Amino acid sequence: MSSVILKNLVKSYDGEKNVINNINLEIKDKEFVVLVGSSGCGKSTILRLIAGLEDITSGEILIDEKIVNNIHPKDRDIAFVFQSYALYPHMSVYDNIAFGLKMRKYDKKLIKEKVLEVAKALNLDELLERKPKQLSGGQRQRVALGRAIVRNPKVFLMDEPLSNLDANLRVHMRSEIKRLHKKLKTTFIYVTHDQTEALTMGDRIVVLDKGKIQQADTPEVIYNKPANKFVAGFIGQMNFIDIEVNNQCFEINGHRFKTEKAISGSVIIGIRAEKMILGDVSIPVIPEIIEMTGGERIVYFNLNNCKCCAKIPLDYKIGENLELKISIKDMYFFDKESGEVI
Ligand SMILES: Nc1ncnc2c1ncn2[C@@H]1O[C@H](COP(=O)(O)OP(=O)(O)O)[C@@H](O)[C@H]1O
Ligand SMILES: [Mg+2]
Repeated sequence: MSSVILKNLVKSYDGEKNVINNINLEIKDKEFVVLVGSSGCGKSTILRLIAGLEDITSGEILIDEKIVNNIHPKDRDIAFVFQSYALYPHMSVYDNIAFGLKMRKYDKKLIKEKVLEVAKALNLDELLERKPKQLSGGQRQRVALGRAIVRNPKVFLMDEPLSNLDANLRVHMRSEIKRLHKKLKTTFIYVTHDQTEALTMGDRIVVLDKGKIQQADTPEVIYNKPANKFVAGFIGQMNFIDIEVNNQCFEINGHRFKTEKAISGSVIIGIRAEKMILGDVSIPVIPEIIEMTGGERIVYFNLNNCKCCAKIPLDYKIGENLELKISIKDMYFFDKESGEVI
């Protein structure tokens, strides 16, 4: 069992501003949880608090149902993988992987066995004599993973481990890390600012903003039922349009729609970029910019004077006008002040 529980977790570095603001989260044994949010929202701080590298301002952290607030980092049985790899430059790959075991005074023969086993699993067995500077970025990242795995920790913490890799390798390593998780059957807490990494890797995604949890749920629920405008805008590509609702009726570029729920006044609707030509009400618009992204095009235009875009297939005909097709069923309604879903 290696659950991680955060209870009313608060962290302030300066005693004034809380960068972590009352976080409550239960991460189950063997779960792969992704913390996602933009830079500065507090992701690394949460990992550092769990690892014990930073003192908690208030609240509790439980690992395996035991409070660890006052447990030394090295006794928390946690492995941390950093974006920067943090390898020892003067040590070989073998010694980098073996380091944690040597520190813990493991038997030499056992160390060798474990290092070779991990090196094999990560395709590093040919590189054991090399120094980090003789490795590619992807190989260095695998050494950093190897060093974490070899100790059989209860929990893996990974802080943007793929950010320094080029795009193709990043996609490849995404699935490698997922495979590793399946094999090791250990709890993973993975931090990223990248929504695609979050959606593809997480059993559960925790969306953070300004040190607060905005929503914590499966990728499907986060995508299909965002709790608020922040989550809707952060995960996926959503258009936001200002509307005025009277007697459940509103207009987009002069075309009338009727809401299913009783809504009135100034609200914001959201429609995903990929749903803009799949509905039943036609609205012609004039494209301002057309971007080619490979498998599809992204077209930009205005709706109710709000900048919007649509993802459309390459074979879709674009003349002077683009014929949008949108449906009330694909619209999300957000409160203009709070951003909460109505
Ligand atoms: N050691 C520190 N001292 C003071 N402020 C810090 C420290 N580390 C992080 N912060 C601040 O805390 C906030 C959250 O930072 P961080 O957890 O690194 O965010 P993220 O990893 O999501 O980018 C930021 O405003 C950052 O400037
Ligand atoms: Mg960070």
